[in-house]
Amino acid sequence: MTMRITPSILNADFARLGEEIERVPSADAIHIDVMDNHFVPNLTIGLPVVESLRRATDRMLDVHLMIADADRWAPAYAEAGAESVTFHVEASGAPIRLARELRRLGARASMALKPATPIEPYADMLDELDMVLLMTVEPGFGGQSFLDLVLPKIRRTRELIGRTGREIWLQVDGGVSLDTIACCADAGADTFVAGSAVYGADDADAMVRDLRDTALAATCTH
Ligand code: DX5
Ligand code: ZN
Repeated sequence: MTMRITPSILNADFARLGEEIERVPSADAIHIDVMDNHFVPNLTIGLPVVESLRRATDRMLDVHLMIADADRWAPAYAEAGAESVTFHVEASGAPIRLARELRRLGARASMALKPATPIEPYADMLDELDMVLLMTVEPGFGGQSFLDLVLPKIRRTRELIGRTGREIWLQVDGGVSLDTIACCADAGADTFVAGSAVYGADDADAMVRDLRDTALAATCTH
């Protein structure tokens, strides 16, 4: 199985984002956390920064929108050239229409669920998605502790994805580190956001490779 590591730049130096991205050449994509201070109690970056990053790099951009009214705002991130656009189901009035719109604009369509949101109501729309993101912390801040209680949902989501017969990526986000990634992989995740673990490391790229190796081993001791 392929294991993808997608470092979050939330913990990077925002004054030097172009250089910070170059610190992780082994990463499979760059995870960009967009927060609007409505859907989550924090404010980060928005469309102009994503547009600038698009001009600065050929890396895959994995945009995670933690914003209200996703139906209105998400398509612009696909138009800006992000290869993957993730919206929160809790912030979308018409997730199927939005997923189709993102794909029509050339992006991978991805849907995120907060830790307490169940996957089962969305089982029948998985075909509309290229990735499911399961939050393993309450969204809003980097550096929080991993919520073990999401592990059974990772397992159930992997089962539902298996039934579609399609290759839908399963991403986890929040508190992912060398201590927690193996259990996520064992439960069925294949795509891993890591913010503080990567950008807090002395050698960020070595941490990306260590995280991938640990996910591939998938030896869960919890
Ligand atoms: C949290 C963000 C995450 C965050 C991850 O709301 O969506 O992407 O940056 O940071 P760590 O890995 O430190 O939990
Ligand atoms: Zn994120």
